[in-house]
Amino acid sequence: TTSLSGLQAFAADIGLQQVPSFAEADVLNNPLDIYHAYLAEHLKTLVECDPHLVYNSIHPSNGIENGDLDIVLPQLKLPSVSPKELAGELLKKPHPLFAAPFKDGIHIRFFFSTKTLPRLLLPYINGRKEKYGVYAPLNLQNGTYSVPKKVIVDFSSPNIARDFTAAHLRSTILGAFVANLHSSMGYSVVKINYLGDWGKNLGLLGVGWQKYGSDEALAEQEDLFRYIHDLYAKMEKELQPEQDARKKARDDGKDTSILESQGLFAERDATFKRMEDGDPDAIALWEKLRAISVDYYSKNFARFNLKFDEFSGESKVSLNPDTVAEVESALKEKGIYEEDSGAWVIDFDKHGAKLGKAALRDRNGSTTYLLRDIATVFDRLKTHAFDKMVYVVCEQDVHFRQVFKAVELMGHPNVANKLQHITFPKPNTIVSPTGNALLLSDILDQCENSMHEVITASPPQYQLEHCAGASKLMGINSLLLQELAARKGHSSGLDFNLLTLADGDTGTSLQLCYARLCAAIAGIRTQPSQEDVAHLDYSPLSEPPWSDLLRLLARYPEAIHAAFKILDPAPILTYLFRVVEELTACLDEAAEDEDEASGSAPSSVPAARAVLYEQVRQVLENGLKLLGAIPISRK
Ligand code: ARG
Repeated sequence: TTSLSGLQAFAADIGLQQVPSFAEADVLNNPLDIYHAYLAEHLKTLVECDPHLVYNSIHPSNGIENGDLDIVLPQLKLPSVSPKELAGELLKKPHPLFAAPFKDGIHIRFFFSTKTLPRLLLPYINGRKEKYGVYAPLNLQNGTYSVPKKVIVDFSSPNIARDFTAAHLRSTILGAFVANLHSSMGYSVVKINYLGDWGKNLGLLGVGWQKYGSDEALAEQEDLFRYIHDLYAKMEKELQPEQDARKKARDDGKDTSILESQGLFAERDATFKRMEDGDPDAIALWEKLRAISVDYYSKNFARFNLKFDEFSGESKVSLNPDTVAEVESALKEKGIYEEDSGAWVIDFDKHGAKLGKAALRDRNGSTTYLLRDIATVFDRLKTHAFDKMVYVVCEQDVHFRQVFKAVELMGHPNVANKLQHITFPKPNTIVSPTGNALLLSDILDQCENSMHEVITASPPQYQLEHCAGASKLMGINSLLLQELAARKGHSSGLDFNLLTLADGDTGTSLQLCYARLCAAIAGIRTQPSQEDVAHLDYSPLSEPPWSDLLRLLARYPEAIHAAFKILDPAPILTYLFRVVEELTACLDEAAEDEDEASGSAPSSVPAARAVLYEQVRQVLENGLKLLGAIPISRK
C-alpha cells in the first residue's frame, strides 16, 4: 500500500473500484484521504456539481464521537437539493467502506465500516512503520517525488556564560519539535542555535577572565562551563553599582555618557572594542570561552537526543562584516537609515509600521542585536537558500517585527514573507527544591533524579523497577512532554512535582501506558507474520473499544497536519492522550478476558489484537519521537 499501484491492488482485493483521483487527496500519506476520495466519488454520483466542491464539502469529523467523515451540506452550494433527500439517497446506496450515515442538522455524518477498516488500515500502517505520519514531499499531480523545501529553525539560543533560563529551555524543546514537525511534512530542515556570543557582555566576560581567570585554574576544573558561568555572574555583580548609578542618572534626565566612560563600563567596552577590531589575543580568549559553552550545550542537548546542525550566533556576521555593510548600504539607498545623535537608526513609524525608532549601530559604532539579526537573514540566504525560516523565541515580538519590516523596506518583501516568529510568554524561573537557579545540566539531573526516586519508592505503580537507565530517560522525556504541554499564552514554568505523576494527562502516564503495551506485546506467544497482516480475520476488532482505537489510528497523519498548520504541539498531545485512553480501555478488556479464560483454555491473545497492538505501538512511538521523546519499554 506504500505505492499507488500497491494501493490500487489492495483496493481491488477488498472489492473496491480504483481509488478515485482528486487533486486534494493525499492517499499515500493519509489514510483518511482514501475514505475521503471514495466518499466524494460516491457523492458525485448523486449531485451535479464541481468535483472539487464535492471533495471540499467533506471534512474529518471534529472527534470520533461524531463519526469519521462529515459532509457539510451548505458547502455543496446546491439550492435545488434538499439535505433530507440527499441523506435519504445516500442511505439507499450502501458503500463497503462506510456504515449507514445519519443526518445531523446541516451535516451528514459517516462512520467507517468496522469490517473493512482494519483490513485497510492495519496493512497501511504496517507497510509504513516509522514512516506513518511522515509526509513524503509528493508531487500530487504526477505522483513523483519533488525536491523538498528547505526550512531553517532558529531556536534555543542561550547567551554565552549566562544563565540558561526557563525561556531558553522552552525555546529549545519547542524548537526541536517545530524542526521535527517540518521533517514530517517533507521539509529538509537546518537547526541553528543562534548563540548570544557577541556584544558588550562578552567584553565583560573577557575582563572577568583577565581579573580572576587563568588557564591553570581552568585546568583544575571538572565543570568548565560552571567555572566561566560563575566568573561572569561575579562580574555582573561587580558591575551592578555602576548599572544602578547609570539608571538613576537616566531617570533624573542626566547625561549618562560620563558614567559609561569610566570604571568597569569602560573596561568592558574597551575589551569588546578589541574583539570587534579583531585583536588576536582578544579573539583567541573569546574563542576559548565560546568553545567551552558550545561543548557544554552539545553534551547536554544530546541527553535528549537533540543535535544542532550549526552552533552559529551573533558573532558570525560580526566577524565577517560584508553582509552587514551590504545591509547598511541598501538601507541608506532606500532612504530609511538615519543618523540620530551619533547612532544609526530606522524610524519605523515614518515608514508605515508602528514599531518605534530602533538603533542598528549605537553611539560607539558597534552593531546592535537588531542589525546582526537583519544581516543574518541575508547571510543565511547566501549559505542555505532557505524557503522558510522560523524563529522560536520567547517574547521579542517587536524585535522580530522590526527585523521583518526592515527586510521588507530594503526591497525584499519576498524574503520577509519567508520569515516567521513563534513566540510565547516568559515562563517562571526554574528553581531547585532548595531555591537555587539552575544550569541546564542541573535541570536535567533534577528531572532524572526525581523520576528515579519515585520509581524506586513505588515500583509497582511504575513497573520499571529493574532499570535505572530507563527511569532517568523517562525523567527527561517527561520534562519534554511537560514543556510542550505548557498552554499557549501561559507562563507556567516547569513543575518538578507534576513531572512524575502517573495519573492524568502527564508525560509520565503516557510513557507508562506505552510500557504497558510493550509488555502486552512481549507476552504474546505467537506473533502474526507480515503476510498474516493483510489476510487475518479481523472480526475481533469490529466492536468498541477496539474499533474506536482503530478509528483513532487512522487520524494520526491528520493530527500532524493540524499541528503543522499552527506550528503547535497541542493537536498531537491531545491526539496521543486520546489514543492512550482508548488503548487503556482495550488493555483492560483484554485483561478481563484473560481472567475469565484462565482455568479453562490456555490464555491467548487473538492474532487480530496482536496486529493492532503492534500498530498502536508504532503510532505511539512515532508520536513520541516527533515530540522529541525517546520511547522506552520494559524490554
Ligand atoms: N540570545 C537571545 C536571548 O537569549 C535569543 C536569540 C534568538 N534568536 C535570534 N535570531 N534573535 O534572548
